[in-house]
Amino acid sequence: MKPFTFQTVPDIRFGVGATATLPDMLRGRGAKRVLLVTDKGIRGAGLLAPVEEALSGAGLSVTVFDEVVADPPEDMVLRCGEAAKDKDAVIGLGGGSPLDTAKLAALLAKGQQPLSEMYGVDQVRAERLPLILIPTTAGTGSEVTPIAIVTTGETTKSGVVSPALYADAALLDPALTRGLPAEVTAATGVDAMVHAIEAYTTAHKKNPVSDALAREALRLLSVHVRGAFEDGNNDDHRGGAMLGAMLAGQAFANAPVAAVHALAYPLGGRFHLPHGLTNSLVLPHVLRFNLPAAAPLYAELAEDVAGHAEGSVEARAEAFVGAMEDICEAVGMRRRLREFGISHNHLPDLAEDAMLQTRLLQNNPREVTLEDARGIYERAW
Ligand SMILES: NC(=O)c1ccc[n+]([C@@H]2O[C@H](COP(=O)([O-])OP(=O)(O)OC[C@H]3O[C@@H](n4cnc5c(N)ncnc54)[C@H](O)[C@@H]3O)[C@@H](O)[C@H]2O)c1
Ligand SMILES: [Fe+2]
Repeated sequence: MKPFTFQTVPDIRFGVGATATLPDMLRGRGAKRVLLVTDKGIRGAGLLAPVEEALSGAGLSVTVFDEVVADPPEDMVLRCGEAAKDKDAVIGLGGGSPLDTAKLAALLAKGQQPLSEMYGVDQVRAERLPLILIPTTAGTGSEVTPIAIVTTGETTKSGVVSPALYADAALLDPALTRGLPAEVTAATGVDAMVHAIEAYTTAHKKNPVSDALAREALRLLSVHVRGAFEDGNNDDHRGGAMLGAMLAGQAFANAPVAAVHALAYPLGGRFHLPHGLTNSLVLPHVLRFNLPAAAPLYAELAEDVAGHAEGSVEARAEAFVGAMEDICEAVGMRRRLREFGISHNHLPDLAEDAMLQTRLLQNNPREVTLEDARGIYERAW
């Protein structure tokens, strides 16, 4: 058997009401002054007040930084890092954007290393403050990944990838996602499914722990993303989607994602479309492109998303791709690039941008050339 390594967050608490343990966890870590990182949408949805009150009620001094915006821009991350300077713990509450910002703020707090030197894999030298992450979307899995994505400049996204970004604890409370709008439920849920698929087919770090997590994630997500989209108040569906997203996060943290994400990022960078939506726009086209190399693995995944699949490897792989298209369709995510103000003239530039995502493309089961990327965008247009 091939050797592998696997890492994850050491303390994961899941269940309706899981956030109630937060004050005790902080006190246990000796924290007194806490920075709570979130965004205005979370405040507006009424999710911030109970957490803030529970912390103040427990005698902790809480400062709220609610200026996070989607796809965190670098200057905002730096401001959040400043806000963390006199604190002794950081809490992230929200979707991937507040969680990624909280991770970096916890690293920037001690002023030991500028953000500009942290981009890339294993570049972090700074120590970080204690960090607890509380997701309110079931999508990125950021609560258990060693990754933070920042929008640098106008259109580019850069990642900080380092074990230092594994939080001390993740608190998963499905009740926090009850009010998540249906279209965000759909987009973030598809993102999570893509994490599981790309982890399972990744070219270099595929490992048996990630494989098991990815398959269980897909099994859960293929049922519960659709269920949560249709009935947002159903805690079984919300819990299934949240658990699935977290398992997919653990999987791809150790078996990294590939061409779907590489081709999705330029769409987010240039057109400011939500991360999950951009994934769904290219997903079926990348899966079909990958079939010559990935059919045997896709055939295995067919059991998790299309239980009835049978026949040859090719037939089961096709059933898998078809089932993913059906799920996207059912949650309103089977759309085309042209519906989002993207003109045909943009496709060459998008393909050039995608080729810059070498960190991701190297993980794809089939090599992607510039011409291949243009062809995929063409089919998605
Ligand atoms: N760190 C990682 O491993 C990782 C992985 C994938 C993506 N990402 C990054 O994560 C970001 C995307 O995160 P996201 O998709 O979770 O979205 P997000 O955090 O950008 O949030 C999207 C919107 O949903 C709202 N929202 C969130 N939870 C809500 C709730 N429960 N009720 C009502 N509204 C709610 C927010 O206020 C916001 O307006 C991107 O920057 C992406 O690059 C990170
Ligand atoms: Fe993603």
